Amino acid sequence: MDGKEFRQVGHRVVDFLAEYFDHIEEKRVFPDVDPRTANALFAEPLPQDPSPAETVLNELETKLIPYCTNVGHPGYMGLITPSPNPVGIIADFICSALNQNVGAYSIGPSAVAMERRVVRWLTDLCGYGPKADGNLTSGGMMANFIGLKVGRDAVTGDRAQHDGIRERWAVYASEERHVSVDKAVDCIGLGRNALRPLPTDANFQVRLDALEEALAHDKENGMRPMCIVGVFGTTNTGAVDDIRGLRRIADREGMWLHVDAAYGGGMLLSHEWPMRNRGLELADSITIDPHKWFYAPLDAGAVLVKDRDRLTASFGMKPSYLTDELDQANERYQYYVHGFEQSRRFRSLKVWMSFKRYGAHQIGRWVDNNVRQAKHLYALAEKDPEFELATSPPMSAICVRYKADGLDEAQSKDLHAEVAQRVERSGRFWISTTELKGKTWFRINPVNFRTRQEHLEKLFQMLQRECRALLRAKRVASQST
Ligand SMILES: Cc1ncc(COP(=O)(O)O)c(C=O)c1O
Repeated sequence: MDGKEFRQVGHRVVDFLAEYFDHIEEKRVFPDVDPRTANALFAEPLPQDPSPAETVLNELETKLIPYCTNVGHPGYMGLITPSPNPVGIIADFICSALNQNVGAYSIGPSAVAMERRVVRWLTDLCGYGPKADGNLTSGGMMANFIGLKVGRDAVTGDRAQHDGIRERWAVYASEERHVSVDKAVDCIGLGRNALRPLPTDANFQVRLDALEEALAHDKENGMRPMCIVGVFGTTNTGAVDDIRGLRRIADREGMWLHVDAAYGGGMLLSHEWPMRNRGLELADSITIDPHKWFYAPLDAGAVLVKDRDRLTASFGMKPSYLTDELDQANERYQYYVHGFEQSRRFRSLKVWMSFKRYGAHQIGRWVDNNVRQAKHLYALAEKDPEFELATSPPMSAICVRYKADGLDEAQSKDLHAEVAQRVERSGRFWISTTELKGKTWFRINPVNFRTRQEHLEKLFQMLQRECRALLRAKRVASQST
């Protein structure tokens, strides 16, 4: 591909994408395709011969694009994948072109410097001091793993990295934690059974009395407390745990406190509902995902650590083939020494360009719009006696359920799943379902700068209509049997 072809193809792609975004609202949110058909589209052996780039792009236009989930569509209110902001998309293009490998300084000095600055912006946002540092990661899953690994090493006096796990340790987290915590507890060598899921109160915040009880029980039985994972914005309802209370207990017990702000971190930019006073800076480590509520395209998660030396203690190995002998002054920052991953994509570029292009103020206004939309939906559902709400949304995730009088819980679960399917099939919206305290709910989560209040109103009308129609149909069916 010479410069001329590269230009032609690049211009065509940019024109295509500009058109795509101009008309995104006219598209279906979820494509009309089943998994078998989707697989069949790509069922071909490894291509041996070249094709012109034009042909390859044409193929994308017929096979890929029509069957994508249009997450930038204002009706996408599902699993936390925000509308990617346009300058972030351009950043990813540049990132691949330059292909800086941020794992090692020698493969991207300015990119390493940029990531260090972006991490500094994030640590400042969280209220951390100058000793803090961190890495951009593939997402919250990896960030939670790194946070727990760093915590494990700190609490075991830096023995576990060398000797493995000898004693019986336990980790404590809310029943509303993300599943990445369970996986991390496994991956740091404790096994999932070492995780103590703790009940939450009516606001879905972890109960400190339950934590105390679990700690007392474990200690009586020879288990050693290692880490508490607090949540700053649960996936289901955006609940924020009492970080100060968790910190007091962690200090008393000599435990690490990791706080998962993968989703809730966006609220640090909010103007109307600021959450900078909730004690996030008291955590020893934090997960915060720019690819969630900072509207950066995937992937850009982050793990932040209050004391940068802990990162080096956990990951600081220098194999001979990587050691940079040219760095006599020891000034070249090597991410592979201060983090888990080696080859690393230049993720900071899209976060840096987004903050530069829009500014934290504008991004905060998008966050506020999404919170306002969730609160509007809450107000609508509150007025309808046929619907029940889990809690008033502190962020933009809201759980609402159809009461469906006369149905037991299993039937209600079926009804919610079927209505969510109908919503998907409509092509106008996408929402998920979830379980909270033994009941099934619709989970609706605007994290999209294109969503407007009217979308929430239309979605709620659809839920009212579909729930009533389905309940009626179920009643008729049960009377006729
Ligand atoms: C609270 C929380 N933590 C962690 C994660 C995992 O993040 P990722 O999907 O970026 O790996 C999620 C994902 O939704 C989340 O909501």
